[in-house]
Amino acid sequence: MKILFAVWEIDPFFKFGGLGDVARAFPAALKDLGVDIRITIPFYKAVKLGRNRKKLLCRLRVEYAGRKEKVEIYEVAHPLNNVPVYFLKNKKYLDIVSAADTFAFFDKAVVDIVKNNSLDFQPDIIQCNDHHTGMIPLLVKENKLNIKTIMTIHNLAYQGFNSKEVLDKLGIEHTKSRLIRWEIKRRQINFLMEGIIHADAVTTVSPTYAQEIMTEEFGMGLEELLRGKEGRIFGILNGISADTRYKYHGKLNTCEFVQRKSEFKNNFGEHLKFFLEKKRKNKLLLQRKLGLRATSKLPLSCFIGRLDPAQKGLDILHKMIRKVIDSEDNQFVILGSGNIDWQKRFEWLYKFYPKYISCNFKFDEGLAHEIYEASDFILIPSKFEPCGLIQMLGMYFGTIPIAHRTGGLADSIKTYYNGFLFDRYSSVALRNTYERAVEIWKKDRKKFEEMVVNALNTDFSWDLRAKEYRELYEKLISGSI
Ligand code: GLC
Repeated sequence: MKILFAVWEIDPFFKFGGLGDVARAFPAALKDLGVDIRITIPFYKAVKLGRNRKKLLCRLRVEYAGRKEKVEIYEVAHPLNNVPVYFLKNKKYLDIVSAADTFAFFDKAVVDIVKNNSLDFQPDIIQCNDHHTGMIPLLVKENKLNIKTIMTIHNLAYQGFNSKEVLDKLGIEHTKSRLIRWEIKRRQINFLMEGIIHADAVTTVSPTYAQEIMTEEFGMGLEELLRGKEGRIFGILNGISADTRYKYHGKLNTCEFVQRKSEFKNNFGEHLKFFLEKKRKNKLLLQRKLGLRATSKLPLSCFIGRLDPAQKGLDILHKMIRKVIDSEDNQFVILGSGNIDWQKRFEWLYKFYPKYISCNFKFDEGLAHEIYEASDFILIPSKFEPCGLIQMLGMYFGTIPIAHRTGGLADSIKTYYNGFLFDRYSSVALRNTYERAVEIWKKDRKKFEEMVVNALNTDFSWDLRAKEYRELYEKLISGSI
């Protein structure tokens, strides 16, 4: 079984968000199941290869915008799992990420490579990820290749609207498909929508999100189209890979790496004490590092993520913190960058309560891990969350999630078991749930510790998910989907 995984980002070479983590860990789990999976990505100037060797595999010409463009294919073995990564180099289109042309050209190049068998690797399936790779399924059809395609939606909010001229550049006739003609009227082409229409199967990164996107509330305008695809849409929860990366960060950090249950399988009672003691120390270290009041007496909650007001629930988070912070009985750490207005609003809270809130407006994975290792709770008030990896990472470090019941959050958190979910998207609901959680933290240590153990014991490894994907691949190849 041969799979080509096309994606626009991959950790550690070029990482932007959660998709970059998935691209690192997911193919590795499939490889362990015996699937021959390879990854392809543009070779942007910003790609950091570090000490990893690249090997030039071949050169080819890709026709785009009426010209034959030179493309070089470099192979690099992924440093953490040895999965082959094919970097496609072209100065004009792939050096810098510039929306339409970069991704249209990349998609064309991927399909041409397969068509010309330039890699000596003929995939049974091309798995496309998000709008960046949305033109691949149509191009596969246009070229009548005997290959199946999957469109994996990591976030329906980003659809990749591009000018219709892209179709000319790709050499696709406007009149070929009814839907294309319809889009022509709007003079725009929607890459993700094309991917959804033409792929043989669509997957989302959690079962709940697969249901949600068929509703008006979450469908971002594509709900009807998605409903029409029912039976071909599959929700498979993402995993995390508890690989060496976290240990690596652990070594660099001031916080000590809090060991996981796998490292103290037997006699957890004894080890739990040890674990909690480490967490207590980590909390003091982090409080000092960030200038917060150093004490074990106050609950420390964190928010880690892109500051994206449309998705991440910044409004209800800010309002909730504003309401509870003046008692000086709670502490918060914010880590993430994005929307400047929201940065200012959180910064304002810091001006009044510098010992109770720490704002870190940057992308810093090392610090993120320290925060996981030190916090009692992780707040995830997202309005929608296709999967979310931070609740799983939080639990991996024994940090209890408090989250909105949506998407992958609903599929990975159980209230009073390994976290807390609130139903209505409102600051009141968030606050009530937060206060309930803190009450348990303060007054019912036994229950809280039991929840920490459950969180540590919940299996979010990719192995389970990879099996589900392999089944899907098998069905697609055998033609039963
Ligand atoms: C996107 C989604 C997030 C998901 C990630 C990886 O960033 O917003 O929920 O976990 O993709 O699939």
